[in-house]
Amino acid sequence: MGVLVTEERLVLEVLKGRTVFPPPVWMMRQAGRYLPEYRATRERAGSFLDLCYNPELACEVTLQPIRRFGFDASILFSDILVVPHALGRDLRFEEGVGPVMTPMDASEIGSLDTDGFHEHLKPVYETVGMLRRKLPAETTLLGFCGAPWTVATYMIAGRGSPDQAVTRQFGFRHGEVFAELLNRLADVSADYLSRQVEAGADAVQIFDSWAGVLDEAAFERWCVEPVMRLVRRFRERHPDVPVIGFPRGAGMLFGRYRQKTGVTALGLDWSVPYSQARELQAEGTVQGNLDPMRLVAGGRALKEGVETILRTLGDGPLVFNLGHGVTPDTPVENVEAMVRQVRSGNR
Ligand code: CP3
Repeated sequence: MGVLVTEERLVLEVLKGRTVFPPPVWMMRQAGRYLPEYRATRERAGSFLDLCYNPELACEVTLQPIRRFGFDASILFSDILVVPHALGRDLRFEEGVGPVMTPMDASEIGSLDTDGFHEHLKPVYETVGMLRRKLPAETTLLGFCGAPWTVATYMIAGRGSPDQAVTRQFGFRHGEVFAELLNRLADVSADYLSRQVEAGADAVQIFDSWAGVLDEAAFERWCVEPVMRLVRRFRERHPDVPVIGFPRGAGMLFGRYRQKTGVTALGLDWSVPYSQARELQAEGTVQGNLDPMRLVAGGRALKEGVETILRTLGDGPLVFNLGHGVTPDTPVENVEAMVRQVRSGNR
């Protein structure tokens, strides 16, 4: 079992396979509306996208949860949809709706414009550089992107949906064009992650939030293959940088996802049973997987949730996290209690 030494980036160490107990901790979506200081900065920025493209303010909101809770990792503040935005697709965020884009049709896929891609994303790279200079030395800095399938669901349907019916139909009807879209997203996303690493990110996470709605063959073709392509291209430039894959809802297919795509660590959602989580951990680092609703509820539900994870996964390489993003109705004091309990190592 690892020994705790300060000044070490523990999340990075664990991602590389080391066991550290108590495990390092951070939360998906840790910068967000549950924090009053985030809401104040967001107001100052104007729109959500203005905030994403403003390095000073994006850096500020990234640091807010680090200051408040001392998390072991910091995740760049941005959004997965800046990638299609940088390819010339329109994007806005509507209050109470979420992201809204003009749905793409099959004839448009060949005409995605990659020319101004990195120029458009320059403020993001600037944010990463600024963060590395301002973060404590021991805080791991994570870059991220959306997986091709998850990003494509918003590009094709034009907005979020609980089952991605529109995009599944599109993929089955227009197999070849859809594969072309996923390949193009894989290539630009690999370059986007590479630039984040060159600007100062220690590791990266690929959010495949909608992986769980596909049948086995479609999962293989639309999740596994494009992420494999993305990881291969990223590793040509950065062979030693850990990659966390988060195919939310992948169920029985988590293990195959890691084997085939080559991601270093697996982000698990809370529906993964502990027996399976332990088997996955025997093959490499896992991250997760507290139900965010336990964090909203607090009290005993929270305490038992944290204990169970520490007990069942604490003896192997674990990055403590939620099983999905923190929600706006989460009480700040419950986050404090969670971090305290994880750090106490009581199980
Ligand atoms: O984790 C962090 O703190 C970093 C920032 C981050 C955001 N989005 C900020 C954000 C990250 C890593 C994301 C990823 C993201 N964005 C995903 C994958 C992760 C997941 O949650 O499944 C997805 C699917 C998106 C697309 C997206 N962005 C949706 C569906 C929404 C609306 C839902 C919502 O929570 O409002 C967003 C908006 C968004 N992205 C917000 C934040 C803080 C809230 C917008 C606001 O502040 O008004």
